[in-house]
Amino acid sequence: MDWLDRLLGRTVVLSEAGTGDAAAIAALHAKSFQRGWSEQEIERLLIERNVFTQRALRGRKLVGFVMSRDAAGEAEILSIAVHASQRGRGVARQMLGLHLRRLAGLGVRAIFLEVDENNTPAKRLYSRSGFREVGRREAYYGRGPDGKGGTALVLRRDLV
Ligand SMILES: CC(C)(COP(=O)(O)OP(=O)(O)OC[C@H]1O[C@@H](n2cnc3c(N)ncnc32)[C@H](O)[C@@H]1OP(=O)(O)O)[C@@H](O)C(=O)NCCC(=O)NCCS
Repeated sequence: MDWLDRLLGRTVVLSEAGTGDAAAIAALHAKSFQRGWSEQEIERLLIERNVFTQRALRGRKLVGFVMSRDAAGEAEILSIAVHASQRGRGVARQMLGLHLRRLAGLGVRAIFLEVDENNTPAKRLYSRSGFREVGRREAYYGRGPDGKGGTALVLRRDLV
């Protein structure tokens, strides 16, 4: 019984996010990244006309989101995260797949993102989803214990 599985949180359900998700997205973002976004920042993004956000729910709990901003047919992934307890089960892959189909449907031709070169799960996710490296930004992220800033890889995927 599909509806019962969904109600009891046995399956993950993907859908569009709205302003009512701002607090849950802010909480997940804060747990997932060194620099969190405030609820107000997220709310502002969620109401921008060119920002598109999908969420993953398990029962009523938000366990993932992905957010992009489109600018004249080229979009940038602003953020993607999955709750630590739900990682490694394909939630991000499903969410990103839906997100890319949605962007393609809106006429977006190419999508870009930046990823820390040491972020193995994210790099695997993106390469399996068809992204390719098109640039590098040395010392882009904050300094680590070795005093060096991390390198950001710039990835691109064409949607047409
Ligand atoms: C990156 C992130 C969104 C992936 O979410 P997820 O739901 O665990 O990803 P999936 O289960 O769909 O797996 C995607 C790929 O990553 C791999 N992966 C997942 N966890 C991994 C880990 N701890 N180590 C290595 N690879 C891992 C999976 O094996 C899969 O690759 P495969 O298809 O080659 O097997 C999640 O780790 C996260 O929220 N991280 C913190 C926020 C972040 O870094 N976001 C990206 C910023 S650019």
